[in-house]
Amino acid sequence: MSRSIAFPDDFLWGCATAAYQIEGSPLADGAGPSIWQRFCHDPRLMAAKGDTGDIACDHYNRMESDVGLMKQLGLQAYRFSVGWGRVLPEGTGRVNEAGLGFYERLVDTLLDNGIEPMLTLFHWDMPAALDDRGGWLNRDSAEWFADYARVMFERLDGRVKKWVTLNEPWVVSDGGYLHGVLAPGHRNMFEAPIASHNMMRAHGAAVKAYREIGAHEIGLVVNIEPKYPATESAADKAATARADAYMNRQYLDPAIHGSYPAELKDVFGEAWPQWPEEDMALIRQKLDFVGINYYTRNVVTADESWPLRAGPVKQTQATYTETGWEVFPQGLTDTLVWFRQRYGDIPLYVTENGAAFYDSPVAENGEVEDPQRIAYLKKHIAALSDAIAKGVDLRGYMLWSLFDNLEWSLGYAKRFGIIHVNFETLERTPKKSAVLYADVIASNGAVLAG
Ligand code: BGC
Repeated sequence: MSRSIAFPDDFLWGCATAAYQIEGSPLADGAGPSIWQRFCHDPRLMAAKGDTGDIACDHYNRMESDVGLMKQLGLQAYRFSVGWGRVLPEGTGRVNEAGLGFYERLVDTLLDNGIEPMLTLFHWDMPAALDDRGGWLNRDSAEWFADYARVMFERLDGRVKKWVTLNEPWVVSDGGYLHGVLAPGHRNMFEAPIASHNMMRAHGAAVKAYREIGAHEIGLVVNIEPKYPATESAADKAATARADAYMNRQYLDPAIHGSYPAELKDVFGEAWPQWPEEDMALIRQKLDFVGINYYTRNVVTADESWPLRAGPVKQTQATYTETGWEVFPQGLTDTLVWFRQRYGDIPLYVTENGAAFYDSPVAENGEVEDPQRIAYLKKHIAALSDAIAKGVDLRGYMLWSLFDNLEWSLGYAKRFGIIHVNFETLERTPKKSAVLYADVIASNGAVLAG
C-alpha cells in the first residue's frame, strides 16, 4: 500500500549545525573564549576527556568548500549559529570585525549558492567573560544578549531573513546549571530556574530589539520530548504533567502565553521564585515562527527519588540510538499537533531532527553505509507529512546534522552527520543518508511515498 507523503511547494529543506560543534579555531582572529572552550579543557567537567572544539570539523577554515557540499546536496536552507565571542570577545561592547566578518562571508557564500541562511544567535557558547560576571544568573544577561543581537541585526538583517534567538534553553538550564553535564557545569537546583528565566528575558529583549531594527522573521527554538505516562495511574499521570511542564512548557508558555506552567512550583519546590510581572511582559513577544527540535519521547513513571519527581522508563520493544534515545517518529507528529492545539497557528519549523548511530567505516569505493539513520530519517520525514495533513503549518525541516561533529560533552564518538568526517584528516564523505536526503529534497519528499 502506498503511503501518502506530501509537502507544500515552498517547503524548506535544510540542515542544521552549531558554531562550537563544527568551526574549530575558537580563538582565531581575536575571538574571546566561550564557556564551552573552558568546559572541554577542564578534565573535571568534560566527560569525553581530551575532546575539544579546538579543531572540530575545521569549518572555520573550510567554509567555502563546505557550502559547496551543501549545494551538491541541494540544500535549500542552512541553519547555523554565531559564536557570540567571535563577534564580541568580551561579550559586550567592542565589536571584533574579523570575527563578524567570518559570518558575513558565510552568509554571502550561502546566498551566492542559493541557500537560505537561518541564523541562531545563541547555541550555548556564552562568552567566558560574561560567565565570569555570573552568566545567565546575572539579570544583566538579558541586555548583554540584546546588545549582541542588535550588532548582528544591524549588520546582517538585509541578508538574513530568518533569525533564531536561543537554541534549547532547557538543555542549557538542565544540563548546564542543574546537572553539571554541560557548560558551565553547575549543579544547583536554585540556579536552574533563574538561568532559564534570564534566558527567556534575553529572548524577549532580543525580539523587542528586532522589531525596531529588523524587517524579516525571528523565532525561538525549543527541544520538545513529548511525555507519555507509563501507566494510567494518577501518580504516573501527575509525574508526566510535571515532566512536560519542566521540559516542554517551561519555555513556550511564557514566550507565547506570558505565564509559567503551574506545575513548576511542584517541580522546583522552594527553588521556584516569584517573578516580577514586568519580566513576564518582556518574555512574551510576538514570534514569527517557532522552531522545534525533536529527537525522542519519554515514557514517564513517578519516581520520588529523582529531584524532579518524574523519571523516564526504557521501553523494551523499542529501538534506541547511540545516544540511548528511543526511536519514536509518532512523537514528532504528536508534538507538532500538540503545539498547534496549545499555542495556535504560529508557523513552525522542525529546526533539528536526526540520530547518532554506529556507521560503517568509509569503504574503498568511498561509500558510508548508515542504514539505521536512513530508516530514522524516512520515518521522521513521513511523520512531518502526517502532521501537515492534520493541519499543522509546518514550513521546513532542518536535519541534524550536516556533519559528524563535537557532540558536546560526549565528544566525537557520537556521529549525527549525514556527511562523515574523518577527525584525523578532516576529510568529508557523504554517507548514504546524504544521498537519500538529496533525493528527498529534489523530489520534495515524493521519493518516500510508496
Ligand atoms: C542540540 C545539538 C545537539 C543535538 C544532539 C540538540 O540538543 O541543539 O547541539 O548536538 O541535540 O544531541
